[in-house]
Amino acid sequence: MIIPVILSGGSGVRLWPLSRAMYPKQLLPLFGQYTMFQDTVQRVSAVAETGPLICVCNDEHRFLVAEQLRQIDAEGAIILEPFGRNTAPAAAIAALTIAGSHPGALMLLLPADHVILDRQAFAASIESARSAAESGRLVTFGIVPCAPETRYGYIRAVASSKGEARPVAEFVEKPSLERAESYVASGDYFWNSGMFLFKPEVYLAELEANSPEMLAACRNALEKARRDLDFLRLDPETFAACPSDSIDYAVMEKTSNAVVVPMQAGWNDVGAWSALWGVHERDAEGNVKRGDVLTHGVRNSYIHSTSRLVAAVGLDDHVIVETADAVLVASKDRVQEVKAIVEQLRLQK
Ligand code: GDD
Ligand code: MG
Repeated sequence: MIIPVILSGGSGVRLWPLSRAMYPKQLLPLFGQYTMFQDTVQRVSAVAETGPLICVCNDEHRFLVAEQLRQIDAEGAIILEPFGRNTAPAAAIAALTIAGSHPGALMLLLPADHVILDRQAFAASIESARSAAESGRLVTFGIVPCAPETRYGYIRAVASSKGEARPVAEFVEKPSLERAESYVASGDYFWNSGMFLFKPEVYLAELEANSPEMLAACRNALEKARRDLDFLRLDPETFAACPSDSIDYAVMEKTSNAVVVPMQAGWNDVGAWSALWGVHERDAEGNVKRGDVLTHGVRNSYIHSTSRLVAAVGLDDHVIVETADAVLVASKDRVQEVKAIVEQLRLQK
C-alpha cells in the first residue's frame, strides 16, 4: 500500500500579490478550477493501492486546508506545524506517523505546488518506482530539464539495465547558474521534481544517520502532539528545537541509496508568474488573460485581474496582476524578482 503525504507548508513569495502568507500559492486556484493542493489530492486517485491521505501544513492554514479537502469530498489526516521547519522535518513527522499506523506501507511524498498535466503518466511513473521503493531505495522522480533553472535540484543518473529506476550518482540542490548551465548542456542530469517514494523506515534511518537531532525533535513533537477537532497539533516547544532543513539538503545530497525514475507528465512547479503564462493556453497574440481584462497591441503577456477592469496598451512580455489592495506590473523575464518587493514589504511591517 502507498500512503500519500502532501506537504503544504510553503509560502510561494514569487506569486505575490495573489500569494500571501495567509493564502500561499498552493491554496489558490491559479490554474483551472481547483487549487494546486486540491489537484494534488485528486491526482493521487490515479495511483493504484493507496491508503489514507496525510497532509502536513502550517497551523494558520488549517481551516483552508480542511475546507479545500471537504470541497472535493476528500478525507485526510491533517498534521499541523506551529511554524515551518522546511521539508525534512515535515516528511519525518509523516514517516513516523505511517511507520506507527501502517507498517509495511510505502510513503509517497508530494509537494502541493505543482501543475502536472498528464495524470496517467504521473501514475505510471509511481507504479514503475514501486519495486525499487519496496526494496529499500529512496526513489525520486526526474524531469528532463529544458533550461538552467537554479531553483531546482539536479540529479545525475547512472544508466541501468534494471527497469526504470536508475541509481543516483550525484544530487545537487539548487546549484549556481554556471553549474546549472553545464549540467543542462551535458544532457546527463534530471531536475528533481520534489516528489519521493520510499519506505518510511528507510527515510527515518537516513535522518538518524545524517541529522539525529532533527529526528529526535520530530519524535518528541509527535509524541507530545495534541488532538484538536480533526487536527493533530505538533507540540510547539519540542518542535522549536528542530533544525530547519529541506529533504534535498538533509538527505538526498548525502545518501548513497537513491534512485531516479523519469517522469514525463507535463510537470511544472509554477514558481513564478512567467511559469503560469507558460502552462496556460495563450490567445492568438500570445497573451493569457484572466478576469476582466482588455488589451490593445499587447503580446506574450500574462494579465490577471481579480477585482476590477484592467486595460493594457502596447506592451510586450509583461506580467500584470491586480488584486484589491496591490497591483504588480513587471517585465516577464524579471518576474522572479518580485521576491525583492515581498522582502521590502516585510521590512516595512
Ligand atoms: N509542511 C510543510 N512544512 N511543507 C513545507 C514546508 C514546511 O516547513 N516548507 C515547504 N513546504 C512544502 C511547500 O509548500 C511545497 O509544496 C513543498 O513543500 C516543497 O517546498 P518548496 O519550498 O516549494 O521547495 P523548492 O521548490 O524550493 O524545492 C524543491 O522542489 C523543487 C521542484 O519544485 C526541491 O525538492 C528541489 O530539489 C526541487 O527541484
Ligand atoms: Mg516549490
